[in-house]
Amino acid sequence: MPDAPAALGTPVVRREGLDKVTGRARYAVEHRLPGLAHAWPVPARVACGRVERVDASAALAVPGVLAVLTHENAPRLAEPDDPTLAVLQDDRVPHRGWVVALVVAETPEAAREGAGAVDVAYLPLDHDVLLTPDRPDAYVPEKANGGHPGLREHGDPDGAYASSPVRVDTAYRVPPLHNHPMEPHASTARWTDGRLEAYCSSQGTTTVRQTLAAMFEVPEESVTVRAEHVGGGFGSKGTPRPDVVLAAMAALHTGRPVALALPRRDLPALVGHRATTLHRVRLGAGEDGRIRSLVHEVTTYSSRVKEFVEQAAVPGRTMYTAPHSRTAHRVARLDVPTPSWMRAPGETPGMYALESAMDELAEALGMDPVELRVVNDCDVEPDTGKPFSSRHLVECLREGARRFGWEGRDPRPGRRRAGQVLTGTGVASATYPVLVSPSTATARALPDGTFLVRVNATDIGTGARTVLGQVAADALGAPGDRVRIEIGDSDLPAAPLAGGSSGTASWGWAVHEACVRLARRLAVYQGSLPHEGLEEHADTTGLADAGSDHARHAFGAHFAEVGVDTVTGEVRVNRLLGVYAAGRILNPRTARSQFVGGMVMGLGMALTEGSTLDPAFGDFAERDLAAYHVPVNADVPSVEAHWIEEDDPHLNPTGGKGIGEIGVVGTAAAVGSAFHHATGVRMRELPLTPDRVL
Ligand code: MOS
Repeated sequence: MPDAPAALGTPVVRREGLDKVTGRARYAVEHRLPGLAHAWPVPARVACGRVERVDASAALAVPGVLAVLTHENAPRLAEPDDPTLAVLQDDRVPHRGWVVALVVAETPEAAREGAGAVDVAYLPLDHDVLLTPDRPDAYVPEKANGGHPGLREHGDPDGAYASSPVRVDTAYRVPPLHNHPMEPHASTARWTDGRLEAYCSSQGTTTVRQTLAAMFEVPEESVTVRAEHVGGGFGSKGTPRPDVVLAAMAALHTGRPVALALPRRDLPALVGHRATTLHRVRLGAGEDGRIRSLVHEVTTYSSRVKEFVEQAAVPGRTMYTAPHSRTAHRVARLDVPTPSWMRAPGETPGMYALESAMDELAEALGMDPVELRVVNDCDVEPDTGKPFSSRHLVECLREGARRFGWEGRDPRPGRRRAGQVLTGTGVASATYPVLVSPSTATARALPDGTFLVRVNATDIGTGARTVLGQVAADALGAPGDRVRIEIGDSDLPAAPLAGGSSGTASWGWAVHEACVRLARRLAVYQGSLPHEGLEEHADTTGLADAGSDHARHAFGAHFAEVGVDTVTGEVRVNRLLGVYAAGRILNPRTARSQFVGGMVMGLGMALTEGSTLDPAFGDFAERDLAAYHVPVNADVPSVEAHWIEEDDPHLNPTGGKGIGEIGVVGTAAAVGSAFHHATGVRMRELPLTPDRVL
């Protein structure tokens, strides 16, 4: 039904848009349950050690305070799979900011005052939070995040590097970065007759339900977790976080429904972050620009609580032909908060380093940086030898160059000056893997001619609800306004998280299956529907988890123009332009928003974002939005996102590759290369703040 307003590929407006802008949409701690109490956490003030004693008497004397939970009186929970969730279970302090007590009160204000009055005595131990590239305790992990091998080697990378006529040996540093979604990690929990009900700001409540059921030792059927609206997550809400565990514990302890929104200053220590990555990149090439040896070695940290290794050397396994290569990770376990997923983990810091090194190689070769990437394009994935299901990197580069006005660029740095401002342009590639997970969904035809589609998808602001409506309407051959979509509730058919740019592909596959089957049954159905309608259930287990003979990745190209004030050291991005090849674009309105959002995040990474692990105290010096600077409107210039329509038969029924993350991937490298073009100076540490520039 290509002309219906819901058709795939058309810019349908968000189904919940009006609810959001009018304030009708309810977020996790906006459900005013009868008898609701409020909780406030007490973070550890030492970086390593034990809680010796908690004196709650002053807190309990604060008017309105109902209870103070500590490791001594909090409900005992079963050991979680994710050790960051084992809160208030023992006296350990594995890093500063770890929760050591929780105050429950009649109002958030009383809870906060009570939290300030809790007196905690510690047995501190020495701590160590300093990451250096030569730490002797750093080791090569078997697997980095995403299941990627810690180390891959092909041929003789060192020998081939040494014998290459053109060589670049360079190092980069990406600082800790924080997700900081607009809505903090927040939950409201209520126990009624052994049943737990929670509203949780999460990227996937099927997992939250499983986790809570296991930890509180109740059947999964006794737990319902809802996330109807979520104010962003960028990966940090991809797994359950302490907020929902603490809220459920506090509700159990007090017998009251309890709401807990983690204070923003506590987020960096409690909800994951992108760990520091130290990169060494060596590229050896022939005079023709063809890479002979690619070596990308990454050193990063994880916490003592669990191993999470940012897979930042992984893009080198996919991007360019290199007969000899080594891509390796090393990780040191420090007394730091546990790192985790942040938008395009691995690819984002990895491509900053690799693509910056490509710019340095282009300069060493005297070759245009677009052409250098073109001559190193490949048909098969270098690491696996599998053919790409589709790869239109060169088309993205060419189309981006055309739209940006790259042709005729004077490659010499420092040539465009107006007053005290130097201007330059830069380019970088982007890549992100195509991921998909099994999902279930149901589709029901109702006697009034409407349809009800149910799947526990989560819309974290991406437009997922809207696009799933399009997928369903398309498969049913029905107009979009006849299709109702129910998502964001763990009582709905089980579904994977909104993460890894895989949500629409995963949920959409099950929705498509259910709707296609329903349409088929309706087509042969004679007479009126039974009172309860007709329903079809789909489960893509076995379809969506099958391996592939193809390497499946989205690609893109970023172009940036920056101005550098030589007096103040201020760097401003004038223009950002991205062109993406990400399969079929299902909704240009919401897709553009995703791409642009990713590019703005990359702009922040390039110019303003970053935090510091304080060696004295052991936590992040920048913990709120006054100190951790995300771009504001005045920082964000013209941002254009375009795409190449890609028809890839090796994906999923929606034909999409996923678009949530690729926009951030190469942006910082394009900005960094534009900075070099403007000034002639290579900056190899982010962000490009005035103190570094001058
Ligand atoms: Mo994304 S970091 O997988 O939510």
